[in-house]
Amino acid sequence: MVGTMPESTGVEGMEGGVGLTALMVAAARAIETHRHDALAQDVYAEHFVRGAPASAGWPVRPRQAPDGDANPLWGRFARYFGLRTRVFDDFLLRSVRTGEARQVVLLGAGLDARAFRLDWPSGCVIFEIDREGVLAFKHKVLDAVSATPTAARVPVPVDLRDDWAGALADAGFDPAAPSVWLAEGLLFYLPPAAETYLIDTVDRLSTGGSALAFEVKLEKDLMVYRDSPIYTSTTQQIGIDLLQLFDRDPRPDSQGDLAGKGWSTSVHTPFEFTRRHGRGPLPERNDALEGNRWVFADKLRS
Ligand SMILES: C[S@@+](CC[C@H](N)C(=O)[O-])C[C@H]1O[C@@H](n2cnc3c(N)ncnc32)[C@H](O)[C@@H]1O
Repeated sequence: MVGTMPESTGVEGMEGGVGLTALMVAAARAIETHRHDALAQDVYAEHFVRGAPASAGWPVRPRQAPDGDANPLWGRFARYFGLRTRVFDDFLLRSVRTGEARQVVLLGAGLDARAFRLDWPSGCVIFEIDREGVLAFKHKVLDAVSATPTAARVPVPVDLRDDWAGALADAGFDPAAPSVWLAEGLLFYLPPAAETYLIDTVDRLSTGGSALAFEVKLEKDLMVYRDSPIYTSTTQQIGIDLLQLFDRDPRPDSQGDLAGKGWSTSVHTPFEFTRRHGRGPLPERNDALEGNRWVFADKLRS
């Protein structure tokens, strides 16, 4: 059964509210790109950061971060985003290279430049869903540096609290063909009804052989970590109060829902990937990353 579609409450641009978080992740990717032991490379990230007045003065190189790696925001948290980028790069490329799926949907794509920087097999189509203001800024910056996509790229400007499934269909998505989906750094900003609608919709639009990866936070009470260095330094250094932007309502069990719909799922802490790659954040005291989980799901063929 398809979930009830939640309603959006308005349009926000790049520099307000959750749009700013896309710039924060872009700055983290820029810093990661210039590390000697980079986990991921994104040459476009620094152009996004420099292109928006709100972030023009933020660091885009490790040496520009005050206190370097000891800085909770531009050190440990940025490394977290670098690791996340690498892990989901690997997921997407593995999915399209080893399976039949050629449609990729980036939900809440933000300033994700994967359609320009990854080596996609021929025939791939990358759908990027985000709000209009965010995608318009992205195009302006990418056009200015004459960026060329490495696959067919289809921007889908729509709010994920609205009828995004209709917008995706209008953009050419084919539900009869397998697909790969990613919700990276997204679900905790959405109201629970929008998350449930998103998971139901991905299931409805996915044939057997499709795959999905997403990120969740398991904390029952996000405020338990309100004094964690990651949250306090993000507020103090760049004025983003993540706890204000996260939806505080009880979260749905999306992994359990997918398992109940016949998907095979696996749940991982980011720290598992830190150990696998030999670099990245490790657990610490009062850790805002403690409840973060990366979920991978495959829809089985019937
Ligand atoms: C933290 S950013 C992550 C962006 C990207 N996935 C990445 O990892 O670089 C969150 C993104 O989700 C988008 N987003 C949040 N709520 C949304 C909504 N209701 N509809 C569409 N996009 C939304 C924001 O505009 C923003 O680009």
